Amino acid sequence: MLVEGQPFKTIWANADLGCIHIIDQTLLPHRFEIRQLNHLEEVVSAITQMQVRGAPLIGAAAAYGICLALDENPSNPSLVRAMERLGRTRPTAVNLQWALDRMRSAVWPVPEAGRAKAAYLEAGKICEEDVRTCRSIGQFGLDIIRKLHRRQPDRPVNILTHCNAGWLATIDWGTATSPIYHAQIEEIPVHVWVDETRPRNQGASLTCFELDQQHIPHTLVVDNAGGHLMQQGRVDMVITGTDRTARNGDVANKIGTYLKALAAKDNGIPFYVALPSSTIDWNCANGTEIPIEHRSTTEITHLSGIDSSGSLEQIRVSPLRSLAENPAFDITPAALVAGLITERGPVAPNETALSRMFPEFNPHA
Ligand code: MRU
Repeated sequence: MLVEGQPFKTIWANADLGCIHIIDQTLLPHRFEIRQLNHLEEVVSAITQMQVRGAPLIGAAAAYGICLALDENPSNPSLVRAMERLGRTRPTAVNLQWALDRMRSAVWPVPEAGRAKAAYLEAGKICEEDVRTCRSIGQFGLDIIRKLHRRQPDRPVNILTHCNAGWLATIDWGTATSPIYHAQIEEIPVHVWVDETRPRNQGASLTCFELDQQHIPHTLVVDNAGGHLMQQGRVDMVITGTDRTARNGDVANKIGTYLKALAAKDNGIPFYVALPSSTIDWNCANGTEIPIEHRSTTEITHLSGIDSSGSLEQIRVSPLRSLAENPAFDITPAALVAGLITERGPVAPNETALSRMFPEFNPHA
């Protein structure tokens, strides 16, 4: 998608030089800076520090982490160590393990001399497939937006989203945002309510950044405003992403997603979740089995932003002795989800429907 009118992807590699490039998302929207990563540990740190984040992009970054590790040492122990290091960076997004397993299958049978090359090829394929997948999610999601627009053609379709499930969370297009970008191409008027998404403010800093760059009308709201807007009839649909979806259709996503789904249900507003099939964890029977990441409490006790002189600052907002707890994700039960929008089309959030749509993936079918 576009940044200052120029097309960008979130990650790219230079296999000849043995390095990858990422957009440092911790600096957005204030600064757009590209980072070059040359070593496995730099990728581990980029994922842990959330310079790259969002389930599909975490998977792609981990895949390139394997490439950098094999560039330096293509042995089996080096591969196993890299998988372990990367596998421990973030617990909830299942795309991470999915990408690592895929990289292992691609490089394990290859003699050491050819491993790094095979790894770059596979990581490149993961990225290309992600672009195709997100485009396809967008086309299926567009059908839903089109229907809503036909119902009320004189006003924009109002879509509420939480966190950033945009192109910055994937390689391009995004998951939740892809239908919105496709609606724009079709000239369907849309307006997006963007939850700020405390504590890290991915909505305010990332979703607003990319919608602004793409000239999509949008309004930033505090996380608690969604229910009120729904009661006032100012939301037509909700679309979020997901970090891991259990095979019964329960959805893990950024903390606060569950409350939006409850409010949507209470107001008869459809709550959709957009996801690539790589986000479905067929080994998780339901949401209770999904590990929830707990992050540093300073994300809650402090706010970060840019001051009037342009420097990035952190300020404390709570008393020193107050305890804080920071679960980063929650589970939205399948019963609250109107539909999962996948690369093969919309599907009901239950095991039977998911298995029918992806018969080759469910080992429990
Ligand atoms: O903690 P983050 O920023 O990695 O969380 C991201 C989300 O919760 C996204 O909604 C999810 O990964 C889907 S991204 C297409």
